[in-house]
Amino acid sequence: MDSFALIIFGITSNLAEIKLIPALYDMAEKGVLPKKISIIGISRRSFTPAEFKEYITKVLYIKNIHHQHPIKEEVVEDLLKRFHYIQGPLDDSTFYLRLKSFLDKKGAECHNRIYYLATYPDLYHYVFENLQKNKMNLQTKGWVRLMIEKPIGHDLQSAKDINNLLLKYFTEEQIYRLDHYLGKETLQNILTFRFSNGIFEPLINKDYIDHIQITATEDFGIGKRGGYYDLVGALKDVGQNHQLQMLAFATMDAPSEFSNEAVTSKRIKILKNLIALPKKIVFGQYEGYRKKDNVDPKSQTDTFYALKTFINNERFKDVPIYIRAGKKLAQTVTEIAIVFKTPVNRLLKHMNFGDQPNVLIYRIAPNEGIVLKILTKKPGSETMLEPEYMQFCYRVHPHGHYIPDPYERLILDTIK
Ligand code: BG6
Repeated sequence: MDSFALIIFGITSNLAEIKLIPALYDMAEKGVLPKKISIIGISRRSFTPAEFKEYITKVLYIKNIHHQHPIKEEVVEDLLKRFHYIQGPLDDSTFYLRLKSFLDKKGAECHNRIYYLATYPDLYHYVFENLQKNKMNLQTKGWVRLMIEKPIGHDLQSAKDINNLLLKYFTEEQIYRLDHYLGKETLQNILTFRFSNGIFEPLINKDYIDHIQITATEDFGIGKRGGYYDLVGALKDVGQNHQLQMLAFATMDAPSEFSNEAVTSKRIKILKNLIALPKKIVFGQYEGYRKKDNVDPKSQTDTFYALKTFINNERFKDVPIYIRAGKKLAQTVTEIAIVFKTPVNRLLKHMNFGDQPNVLIYRIAPNEGIVLKILTKKPGSETMLEPEYMQFCYRVHPHGHYIPDPYERLILDTIK
């Protein structure tokens, strides 16, 4: 793999601490991070080189909530050699001169570049203008790629504005708009499950499905992310992106091949056919939310939402879809439940048992895997039904699979 520079704007952000730095560690441990990578962290803080190394080490060892395995000292030592720090702020044009001089000094090692924007979109224009002014967005000596995260705007117009801004400085091929859910093994496994096992797909339609539920609840609050979250809310934080991707994976038609274009076009078809029902949505806010730092004491921001929608196509005509998400709820669970119709002629329906449908559950997290709820006969002389669960769980799989964090895949895919 070629050498390159990964320039992370916002190295002290929540995203960098929780996801990016641990993912880079994992890639280093697996040996998939090129030896000649320069990882350049940028933030407003003032760090000496030693303080910066201490910060990265702390993120890996102390704040480590990501790793499911111990961290190896020798990997950290080796990784630290590849980390560098340049102080911002991003709206200061002299900062870009310092960045440019660093990159120029490194020569060919830094001709290929990924700019990762782990910052607020209102800083994008400073970054892009200055990169252009210093010819740092040009691909004359190597490739230049841009990774950006949500929020891409807060409504249609602002989303278009951000996209227009991006396209003013970069070509579409250079831009990677990320949704880390797309990099989750469990989401990708939905496609494998549906299109590699012949026995389920014939049931995934209005004749067999009663309704679909897509849930993403968390038992924790917004933490220190008040400044970001209060502007966004649950629907825009996880609904319009992660949960719609979940829905698309669970309901899209089979792609003609597993290429980016083929899969994307099928996903888009679902999204374009969603029926918006503005009256079928409710919002909520957890108690104590307004007392969090950087949250407006009178905030109306949603920390919970639930909505109903339909897909306007023949396959899912009139199948209700319920999507809900929220913070500080009873349980952390992200899943898609396909709830099947109860057979009209179910033999034992008269028994005092209630209406127990079959349910196919894609468990995105935790206990990543797939569950199928079935009905069985309770052993005994009486004929009684009882629900049972057939399941596949990645973590208790006989092979004891380690599930990589989606950010590893996102970064690797961008490099590739
Ligand atoms: C992020 C949201 O995109 O996704 C967070 O900003 C949310 O608020 C997170 O907690 C959930 O992701 P995961 O991978 O932990 O399910």
